[in-house]
Amino acid sequence: MLIQFPAASASRESDVTPEPVYLSRRALMAAGGTLAAGLALPGRAAEGARYPDVEPANGPAWFDEKLSSTQWQAMVAQGEATTPFSDATHYNNFYEFGTDKGDPASQAGSLQTEPWQVVVDGEVGKPGTYDLEALIKPQGFEERIYRLRCVEGWSMVIPWLGFPLAALLKQVEPTGQARFVRFETRVAPEQMPGVRSGFSLVNWPYVEGLRLDEATHPLAFLAVGMYGRVLPNQNGAPLRLVVPWKYGFKSIKSIVRISLTREQPKTTWETIAPEEYGFYANVNPQVDHPRWSQARERRLPGSLFRPNVIPTRLFNGYDEVAGLYSGMDLRTQY
Ligand code: MTE
Repeated sequence: MLIQFPAASASRESDVTPEPVYLSRRALMAAGGTLAAGLALPGRAAEGARYPDVEPANGPAWFDEKLSSTQWQAMVAQGEATTPFSDATHYNNFYEFGTDKGDPASQAGSLQTEPWQVVVDGEVGKPGTYDLEALIKPQGFEERIYRLRCVEGWSMVIPWLGFPLAALLKQVEPTGQARFVRFETRVAPEQMPGVRSGFSLVNWPYVEGLRLDEATHPLAFLAVGMYGRVLPNQNGAPLRLVVPWKYGFKSIKSIVRISLTREQPKTTWETIAPEEYGFYANVNPQVDHPRWSQARERRLPGSLFRPNVIPTRLFNGYDEVAGLYSGMDLRTQY
């Protein structure tokens, strides 16, 4: 699906692609005129050409099949460099594997992501326990380069691969009673040291939720890959949510259950600390976290001595979602 995004999100490909990647793509086009045809290259070859610094990975067969018809750069982040793959995959939050930023990269390899099933239940016409492949089969892949702003004050720019959440919801036919969508992460203590730990604040499973109109907004996305390859485990393989206008904790990883509900779901961070983390969690530089300012963010990578600090934007710069919140007091409904 090609979505017409307003100016806030629009830009040219050359604004955002790291120069070597951009130039290598141009060279490819000049050489054979087949980059447009690059779309017709076998999955692995196309992926190598786009992100030469990224180790190719063995994805499931359905992933490679879809990759060849991906709509690349369906959306980009204006004038902003993509975060290097090594930062996006080694500075993570995934508490099921530990609370240090390096824990997910070192521990999440143990997560078995195949086979994978997703329960769809609640207010839907087509409830069931679906093989991931069956859920994904009707979807076309898009690449979307989104800013990711964590509530902790750091941010990245990540090229995701996947499809709109709205497309999956349409497939399972929400009933007229559905008002919210609730998501749940897998709980596998034997594969997840953070879940086994007796010190965790989290009452597993990790749960997140959206209002149905937020969930069906064209920007809300389900990712199965990033940087032209299958999603690494530490980033939420095999299926994660990406809601770019909200703080990163809404973007729940390794989803095993999607429920359409009448009532607003109780979500993990709002349950742990309701004064600090709300259900909405919209990025907002004017509403500070009780313990720190949200006016600015550290765009990664940066160093201790030269942090790359930039102003934070309302809705993380995705102005097109503002209409979802008209009439709401964003200070009290944070
Ligand atoms: N999902 C689960 N299941 N568990 C988590 O701990 N952390 C969240 C979110 N999704 C988290 C999660 C937070 S706080 C952030 S900032 C993002 O994942 C980080 O995504 P990344 O590691 O891919 O950058």
